Amino acid sequence: MIKIPTPIMPSDEELMNFTKRQLQIHEGLRMDKWSDGLKMLSTPFLVIEIPKELFYSIVDYEKRDSNKIREELDKIVGSYFVGDYEKSFFKLITRSGKDLGVLPVTNAEDILDQMWSSMRLFDDMCYLHRDADACKLIIRPFVDYNINNEWRVFIKNREVVGITQYDIYNSYKGDINEMLHRLTELIALTLNNTDLDIFVADYYIETDATKSMKSHLIELNPFGLSDPCLLDYNNMNCQIATHLYR
Ligand SMILES: Nc1ncnc2c1ncn2[C@@H]1O[C@H](COP(=O)(O)OP(=O)(O)OP(=O)(O)O)[C@@H](O)[C@H]1O
Ligand SMILES: [Mg+2]
Repeated sequence: MIKIPTPIMPSDEELMNFTKRQLQIHEGLRMDKWSDGLKMLSTPFLVIEIPKELFYSIVDYEKRDSNKIREELDKIVGSYFVGDYEKSFFKLITRSGKDLGVLPVTNAEDILDQMWSSMRLFDDMCYLHRDADACKLIIRPFVDYNINNEWRVFIKNREVVGITQYDIYNSYKGDINEMLHRLTELIALTLNNTDLDIFVADYYIETDATKSMKSHLIELNPFGLSDPCLLDYNNMNCQIATHLYR
């Protein structure tokens, strides 16, 4: 006979501890807490605070009036979608909804569509909603990234233990030595602007001087949690992984 486990309901305290643990993992990485020095290395972004109650009603939306949620969110975010932010990239303080594809947002409705259909966003909102300081949206002007120029760098004890091409399917077409030169400069600047010992940094590296988009930091991630792309967390030892060499 199949043994069915006894259902348990975690206490509020246990749930809150879970939220705290998850947020601890992101300490020092969260874009809403970036120093000005880190911001200088990246593209601009806005941090928009959302009342805890509204954030929770988005998580618990099946029981609520979705039109009302849309109206309330629009009152808070609607005015931000102007100028460079007319078409934006949206994420939480933890992750984006890239499991839907990288899609722009232009209003509250687009944000809710992503929140309600992305597993990554929904998973994160399920614990973020318990901490008012974590109920924030980040928007940045939407840019047309060439994914082949994105690199993920693994830092442990403030040393580079791995570098991988972000896109695991395509081969890198650029000049690898020039790319490494620019990447090394950005890694040094990143380390100058954070006390973190261990993290994963994502960079966009442009080696073509005629392109208007310049090399920059995209974001920081928790070590061990982010997709290691072409590497393996268990044996990272100053490797650089790219399809170029295949
Ligand atoms: N401003 C932007 N405009 C358009 N696309 C963007 C923008 N910022 C990031 N992206 C794209 O979306 C991807 C995911 O963005 P980001 O790294 O900020 O979110 P994430 O969910 O933490 O992703 P990851 O799993 O790589 O850590 C980036 O690798 C990049 O290709
Ligand atoms: Mg990330």
